[in-house]
Amino acid sequence: MKFKLITYIAAISGMILLGCSGTKSRSTSGTAAISLYERKADSVLKLMTLEEKVGQMNQYNGFWEVTGPAPKDGDAAKKYEHLRKGWVGSMLNVKGVKDVRALQKIAVEQTRLGIPIIFGYDVIHGYKTVSPIPLAEAASWDMDAIKKSAEIAAAEAAASGLNWTFAPMVDVSRDARWGRVMEGAGEDPYLNSVIAVARVKGFQGEKYDEFHLAACAKHFAGYSFAEAGRDYNTVDISDNTLHNIILPPFKAAAEAGVATFMNSFNELEGIPATGNHYLQRDILKNRWNYQGFVVSDWGSLGEMVAHGYAKDLKHASELAANAGSDMDMESSGYVEHLCALVREGKVAESKIDEAVRRILKLKFELGLFDDPYKYCNEEREKQTIGKKEFLDGVLDVAKKSIVLLKNDKQLLPLKKQGQKIALIGALANDKTSPLGNWRIGADDNTAVSVLEGMQQYKGNTLTYAKGADVATGKTVMGFKTHVNVTDKSGFAEAINAAKQADVVVMVLGEHGLHTGEGRSRSELTIPGVQQELLEAVHKVNPNIVLVLTNGRPLAISWAAENVPSIVEAWHLGTQSGHAIAQVLYGDYNPSGKLPMTFPRNVGQVPIYYNHKNTGRPGDGQPTESVFWSQYNDVDNSPLYPFGHGLSYTTFEYSNLKLSGNSFAEGGNIIVSVDVKNTGKLDGKEVVQFYIRDLVASVTRPVKELKGFEMVSLKPGETKTVSFSINKKTIEFYSANKIWEAEPGEFKVFAGGSSATKLEGNFKYTVQQPQRP
Ligand code: NOJ
Repeated sequence: MKFKLITYIAAISGMILLGCSGTKSRSTSGTAAISLYERKADSVLKLMTLEEKVGQMNQYNGFWEVTGPAPKDGDAAKKYEHLRKGWVGSMLNVKGVKDVRALQKIAVEQTRLGIPIIFGYDVIHGYKTVSPIPLAEAASWDMDAIKKSAEIAAAEAAASGLNWTFAPMVDVSRDARWGRVMEGAGEDPYLNSVIAVARVKGFQGEKYDEFHLAACAKHFAGYSFAEAGRDYNTVDISDNTLHNIILPPFKAAAEAGVATFMNSFNELEGIPATGNHYLQRDILKNRWNYQGFVVSDWGSLGEMVAHGYAKDLKHASELAANAGSDMDMESSGYVEHLCALVREGKVAESKIDEAVRRILKLKFELGLFDDPYKYCNEEREKQTIGKKEFLDGVLDVAKKSIVLLKNDKQLLPLKKQGQKIALIGALANDKTSPLGNWRIGADDNTAVSVLEGMQQYKGNTLTYAKGADVATGKTVMGFKTHVNVTDKSGFAEAINAAKQADVVVMVLGEHGLHTGEGRSRSELTIPGVQQELLEAVHKVNPNIVLVLTNGRPLAISWAAENVPSIVEAWHLGTQSGHAIAQVLYGDYNPSGKLPMTFPRNVGQVPIYYNHKNTGRPGDGQPTESVFWSQYNDVDNSPLYPFGHGLSYTTFEYSNLKLSGNSFAEGGNIIVSVDVKNTGKLDGKEVVQFYIRDLVASVTRPVKELKGFEMVSLKPGETKTVSFSINKKTIEFYSANKIWEAEPGEFKVFAGGSSATKLEGNFKYTVQQPQRP
C-alpha cells in the first residue's frame, strides 16, 4: 500500500511516544493527562499550514460519482480541488468500500500531507439489516438488546467503509408532534441516559476494531424543544430545564466515551447552538472536560445568518469557531473564511489548533493513520453485510420493542388453529414502511411485512384486504408524500372480509417516511381515512386487534375506548412482520413499556409524566369549579402513561419496604418491592422506581424515574426487587446552579408504570460537622 510520508511519520512518532508517559486510553471526558493520541496529533499538527489545519475542520457531503470522471465545473469542481489540496477533513453520505477507498486514496496519495479522511453517515438504526427505530428500541427497556442492535449497525456500516456514525440522538423529547421523536429514546432523562450509554458502547465497542465506529451524541442542545413541535423552530427553555432534563443524557454519553458531539439547528437563549459558547465551551469542553470534537449540524453554521445572529457566512464562521464548533458540516464557512479570520486576529490560531488536535486524535484512535484503508475491505464488506445472525439480532430486539397497550377481551394471543382471521390495512402489506426513516443501505421492499409474518402461521384461514392506502400523491425520494384523505374505494372489500372473520387484525398508523426529520405533524390521530376505516370495520365486527405502526405517540382515544386489543408495533425494521406475528400468536409474550406518554388528544401536548405539580393541581379533571390547572374538555391524565405496557400474563406489586427512614451523605436506603406473576403464562416485567422531592430550592417533578429492572417470572412466582437510593439519586441542578442533594423529605414509588401509586417515604439529612 502506498501511504504518504506523513502517515509514516505520524505512526513512527506514535511508536516513539509509546515509550513516553502518554496514556493510551480512549477517553473523551475527564482525563487530565495528555493521551498518546493527543501527542500523535500534535506531531502532525506541527507540520501543517494554516490552510491544511482549517481543511481538517471542513466536512463535505459526497459531491460527485467517484467512479466517474472528476468534476470540471461548479461547486463540485471546487470541492474536488479542496479535496486534492487536503482541505477536506471529513466527508458524509459516501458509502461502500469502492467509493470510500477512491476518496481516501485522493486524500492519502494526492495531498501534501496525506492525512486520511474520516467518513460519517447517519447510521441511526441499522445499515442494511435494519433495527427498530430508536424510540421503539427504547420501549424494550433492554440495554443488552439495544447495545446489540448498535453493534450490528456498526459492524455493517464499518464493513462498508464508514468509520463514524451520527448517532445516538439523545434529545429528550416531550412533544409527539415533532417528527424526530422516532430517533430518540423518549421523554425521560434517566432512560435516555442509560440508553445513550448502551448505544455508544454498541457503536464504539471496547476498541475501534474494523467492526466498530466512532459515535456522535446529538443534537447539543435543546433541539427537541422546538416550539409547537415544528422542526427547526425556536427553542426557549429555562436553564433549569436545560440542566435537569436535556443535558443528563449528553453527560452520560460523554462519560461513556462518545467520540464526538453534534451541535444543533436551534437557538438557546437567543443564541444558535452552533455559535453558543455557553454550551460548547463552558459546559461541554470546560465543565465536563470533554476531549472529543464537535461537528456542526448540516449547514447550521450558515443558518446563523437566517437566525439573524451572524451578518454573513464569514461572521458565522468567526462566531462558530470561537464558540467551540470544531467541524463545519457542509456550510463551507470554515474552508472559505477561517484562514482570513485568523490573519485578521478575529479567531486565535490556538483555537484552530485545539479543534484540529481533537479531530486528528480521533483519526489516530480509529487507526486511520496506521491504515487509512482499515475500513475498506471488499471481502469483509461482502461477508458482513446482511449476515444471518444480524437478522436474528434485529428480530430479537424488534419483539422486545413491541408494547401491548390493551387486551380487554383476551383476543390476544391469537389461537393458532381453526380461526378465520381478516388482516386489514395497507401497512400490513408494506415492506418499506417498517424500515422507518433512516435506511442507509437497505433497499425499499426489504422488510418482512405483517402479512408475510402471519402467513407463517398456517393453522388459521387468513384473508387480506388493504382497505385504504395510507400514502398518496407524487413520489419523492421513493415514497408518496401525502396522506390519503379521500380514496375509500377499498373499504367495501375490507368490511366484507371483516364480516366473515372471527378476529380482525388491523394494521394502521403512519408510513415510515411520514416520521423523522422535517416531518412534524399538527394532528396526532391515525392519519387519513384509516380512522374511518377502523370505525367502519368495527361496526361489522368489533373483535379487533389494532396493530399500530408509527414513529411517535398517537392520540387514539376512540380506539382505546372501542377496540379490545391494541398493540404498539412502531417501525420495527427488517424483521418487523415476523416480530409482530410472533407477538400476536403468543410465541413472544410482550414485555415492552412506553418510553413516551400517549396523549388523549393533541391539545394535551407536550404531555409527560415528570411534570411539575403547579400551584393549583386540582384533581386533573374538568370541573365546574374552574380555577384549577385543568381543561374544560379533557382530563389532564394521559391515555397511556410513560412506562405502561401489558403482558399476556398479569403482575401484582406489593410490600414496598424501605431499609430505614433516612440517610445522610455517604449512606443509602434500600427500597424493595415484591412482584408476583398472577397469570397463567411465563412473563417479563420491567419494575420501575421513581422518586419525588417534596420541597426544594427549585420546584421538582411529581415523579422522576431513577432505576428499573427487568424480571422474568413463572406463573405464581414472586420476586423481590430492590433498588438503592443514595445521594446521587436525589441530586439535581438547584437554585445554586450546581448539581447537589438538598436535605428534606422524599417519596419513592415502585410499580409497572409511571402511574403507580405504591409509595413510601424517606428523608435525606445533612450530618452536623463534628466538633474538634
Ligand atoms: C441533519 C440532521 O439534523 C442530523 O441529525 C444529521 O446527522 C445530519 N443532517 C447529517 O445527515
